[in-house]
Amino acid sequence: MSVASLMKRGAEFLGADYAILGGAMSWISERNLVAALSNAGAFGVIACGAMEPKRLAEEITATQALTQKPFGVNLITMHPMLMELVEVVLAAKVPVIVFAGGIPPGPAIKRAKEGGAKVICFAPALALAKKLVRSGADALVIEGSEAGGHIGPVSLNVLAQEILPHITEVPVFVAGGIGRGEAILSYLEMGAAGVQLGTRFVCATECVAHPNFKKAFLRAAARDAVPTVQLDARFPVIPVRALVNAGSQRFLEHQAHVIDRFRKEELTKDAAQLEIEHFWAGALRRAVIDGDVENGSLMAGQSVGMVSAEQPVTEIIRELMEQAEAALARRAA
Ligand SMILES: Cc1cc2nc3c(=O)[nH]c(=O)nc-3n(C[C@H](O)[C@H](O)[C@H](O)COP(=O)(O)O)c2cc1C
Repeated sequence: MSVASLMKRGAEFLGADYAILGGAMSWISERNLVAALSNAGAFGVIACGAMEPKRLAEEITATQALTQKPFGVNLITMHPMLMELVEVVLAAKVPVIVFAGGIPPGPAIKRAKEGGAKVICFAPALALAKKLVRSGADALVIEGSEAGGHIGPVSLNVLAQEILPHITEVPVFVAGGIGRGEAILSYLEMGAAGVQLGTRFVCATECVAHPNFKKAFLRAAARDAVPTVQLDARFPVIPVRALVNAGSQRFLEHQAHVIDRFRKEELTKDAAQLEIEHFWAGALRRAVIDGDVENGSLMAGQSVGMVSAEQPVTEIIRELMEQAEAALARRAA
């Protein structure tokens, strides 16, 4: 038994050497990081985020110019031009589409598959995992609440136990909180086909994130990456895991102020909800691109505590694989 054999199904599915997906990160997972990941034997995934079709087409072409290896594109299901984006990906012959941010509409899955792409979907619970497989998902990602960015309520530790033993029809990749190879090995042994990491790749040399953003990651401990705090159950806040900064504090004050105006009947409930939701608009870009790490959003997973140096992607992948191999060798000893 070797780590490669445990990764075989996932690696073959991706057409990569290692069953390691670079989790799409808006503004971060662009041509440079994606190509570097695929060139290193992992599988890079472009984060489409809010890009329009023309912009996505450019990014795909630019990535193809940097790597001969396969990579994927992550599309957010609530994007108003989802079907057009699917067509862009298919026209560029990108082999894998990852649908994120909700259960994808049936026609999007159908069209992607008819057009020759493999489809990966996020499964937040076992019942939905089964439904997604019936709807045609070729593989699943289960992402625990340890992850950076938008998160569900359940940890990967629990999701892996709930889902991995029961989904064998398609490969299942696990994400959230993975920072070392020992953990990769354990999830493979539990039945995962592979893993998806985001936070661990932010400080890659090839990653275009602003030096301030990378510095914040290098300094942070696991406990600094916390979910957004909601002040009032009547005004739900989308949970996002990020490093605490001045923006997080101002968000609490903003919620309190908006709720106060609602109480005084200066705002309707819908208007108040929108004002709360608008607070973080454009905030990830501010932090990643402009380097405003005080007011921008520092989305990061709990694995941020294991990010301790800026390193080339090949070195990060080599470290992860060596840690997994060494752990497996200790099992046999
Ligand atoms: C800064 C940042 C931005 C992210 N943006 C996206 C995104 O646009 N789409 C998506 O599906 N996941 C997004 N994610 C989640 C990652 O793809 C990945 O699943 C997650 O980072 C895995 O957990 P980890 O950070 O603990 O490795 C983002 C994560 C981070 C840290």
